[in-house]
Amino acid sequence: MAIPALFKNKLSLPVICAPMFLVSTPTLVISACKNGIVGSFPTFNARTQDVLDSWITEISTELETFAKLNPDKPTAPFAVNLVVHPSNTRLHNDRAVVKKHQVLFVITSQGNPAEVVEEVHQWGGIVFHDVIRAEHAKKAIEAGVDGIIIVTAGAGGHAGEINPFALVREIREFWDGPLALAGAINDGYGVRAAEILGADFSYMGTRFIATEEAEVEADYKSMLVTSEIKDLVYTDTFTGVKCNFLKPSIARAGVDLKSYQAKTLVDLDLGESNAWKDFWSAGHGVSGIKDVLPMTELVQQLKNQYQEAVHKPAFSNNGS
Ligand SMILES: Cc1cc2nc3c(=O)[nH]c(=O)nc-3n(C[C@H](O)[C@H](O)[C@H](O)COP(=O)(O)O)c2cc1C
Repeated sequence: MAIPALFKNKLSLPVICAPMFLVSTPTLVISACKNGIVGSFPTFNARTQDVLDSWITEISTELETFAKLNPDKPTAPFAVNLVVHPSNTRLHNDRAVVKKHQVLFVITSQGNPAEVVEEVHQWGGIVFHDVIRAEHAKKAIEAGVDGIIIVTAGAGGHAGEINPFALVREIREFWDGPLALAGAINDGYGVRAAEILGADFSYMGTRFIATEEAEVEADYKSMLVTSEIKDLVYTDTFTGVKCNFLKPSIARAGVDLKSYQAKTLVDLDLGESNAWKDFWSAGHGVSGIKDVLPMTELVQQLKNQYQEAVHKPAFSNNGS
């Protein structure tokens, strides 16, 4: 396992609660980290740099206090997600806040992470970059990233189109460093399967929206419980990039997908558009979501399933 020192003795499972636009808030991040899984959030969720500053202060302070009071419990580090696409007009100012706090774990997406890598390494932090193809992973490795996150077919948000079995093995041909796998990982069996396949971490988004700590509309959570894969549409209509959305949320917003005027450019959605607010995203894992749980209960369930999977006998052809 290629797990960086930052995580040593700080994780109860090799799981990252992935950054989710309009979903991840300090409450979700803190509850994940207190349960020994990495919590993260996109900087966009904090509507201004002042808010971002206060969120990072709140998360760091709360986790430091918790770790001191609970020395026997693994308290995971948190991560901040920076979109490094050239159209992100906030990047410069968000980076200044991340620098001020010397955030130890940064996740970059949608662009070239080189400058952020150089900066974060100055204070001893690490950077994982999120990709959907092997060629993007190669570029990120050239840029000096410490870890690769592969977002495969069936993920929530801007999902890739490549099968996870194929992509993990393709990337493992040239990268033996930390690797996180994303795409419909919903339970502890999936976490173990990702490890066996060659990933070090499971990068899970959708499952964590159906937790008590996720600060989203109650209807979104109940839609996750009642929806199945057939209720998803994979479309670039709303954001200019292919993404899995819940069809019932589109109907709920009174929109007919066929007559909706599609966006032609990548829309980073810095608050101008309602795409992510009105149309709710979920990955293929939605079929496996049967309940809204408190984070502690969900993580315990993940741990139990993971242990069951670890102890499951491997194939044997001796008839037993
Ligand atoms: C509602 C929603 C919002 C998301 N927003 C972001 C984001 O702002 N930045 C990002 O890098 N990934 C984003 N993602 C993708 C997740 O970080 C992660 O890759 C994905 O959820 C993993 O797949 P899963 O949902 O099937 O577990 C989002 C996903 C969802 C479901």
